[in-house]
Amino acid sequence: MTSVRVERLYKIFGPQPAELVRRVERGAGPDEIKAAGGTAAVVDASFEVAEGETFVVMGLSGSGKSTLIRMLNGLLAPTAGRVLVDGEDVTAMSGKVLRAMRQEKMSMVFQHFALFPHRTVLDNVGYGLRIRGAGEDELAEKATEALNLVGLEGWGDRYPQQLSGGMRQRVGLARALAAQTDVLLMDEAFSALDPLIKREMQDQLLDLNAQLGKTIIFITHDLDEAMRLGDRIAMMRAGRIVQIGTAEEILREPADSYVAEFVHDVDRSRVLTAATLANPQVIAPTGAEPVDAGTPLRELFLRLGGRPDPVPVVDGQQRLLGAVTPAAIFEALSREPETAEEASDA
Ligand SMILES: Nc1ncnc2c1ncn2[C@@H]1O[C@H](COP(=O)(O)OP(=O)(O)OP(=O)(O)O)[C@@H](O)[C@H]1O
Ligand SMILES: [Mg+2]
Repeated sequence: MTSVRVERLYKIFGPQPAELVRRVERGAGPDEIKAAGGTAAVVDASFEVAEGETFVVMGLSGSGKSTLIRMLNGLLAPTAGRVLVDGEDVTAMSGKVLRAMRQEKMSMVFQHFALFPHRTVLDNVGYGLRIRGAGEDELAEKATEALNLVGLEGWGDRYPQQLSGGMRQRVGLARALAAQTDVLLMDEAFSALDPLIKREMQDQLLDLNAQLGKTIIFITHDLDEAMRLGDRIAMMRAGRIVQIGTAEEILREPADSYVAEFVHDVDRSRVLTAATLANPQVIAPTGAEPVDAGTPLRELFLRLGGRPDPVPVVDGQQRLLGAVTPAAIFEALSREPETAEEASDA
């Protein structure tokens, strides 16, 4: 499997970018860089994505998300810093080595499908394999397999314009899957879709990835999407990563007012689970029916129906994590005004 590591990465657009990096390092803010004719798109970004992790990058429009993801696979050259893929520095790779790395290790899914209109769906999906020199049989086999994975069996000989937006985005995903790379880069891949289709695609990605175990770097400006998909979330603001954490960590302790503002609208009761409150010091009565660690707090609260006793919480292997008291659940839910109202209605 492939790991991705980013070290002190910068991208500054404009004249004399290297000089502007030095100025940023000495404390220059975005305004000063702008006055010098530059744009600080990515500033001092560092993180590591674990194998098999889904790492979400989110932030407002213009915060540098696309610039960041494009440096990961060498589509853009950083002004400073390093990107290590399996320990190898992408920023030092020549064009040919870089292309091979992209073909073998990292596929990208774009927001705007980027399908070839004059090629069939199957040919679009197999395109990366064709560039890599795969024969027709191998191409057909792998492309068909990828189409099946995204639920488009039988659509291979159609053309992109015969498909709906959601289906086209599935083709884009299938193309990335057909390349059989360990890493998927997804830049606002679902953002253009209707809410219902978007949700379907998210579900499909979650299902698929439970099977395939890819490392995914997923960009979105949609917090709900970030929280559904991400093992961890990096919050970007004006080029900088201001916080990296699980959805829960970010909700519980937003690093600054920007992040707090961003997460303000999220319904905590959907994100917080029994695991959040499972306390090993609390003992449930013997014989009490355990609940799964992933049970959303709101659901759990309703299920308890006013019972006062603690409930044991177990993980996927039925190991006891602790117990949770209804009072603790009520308190956690009450921190969000909306939810407290709903809870007292219930
Ligand atoms: N090629 C370029 N030349 C000059 N400035 C650029 C270039 N590409 C991006 N920028 C600027 O860099 C900043 C970051 O842009 P980027 O596209 O990475 O943001 P983003 O977070 O992906 O935004 P969005 O959510 O709108 O896609 C913006 O101010 C943008 O205008
Ligand atoms: Mg973008």
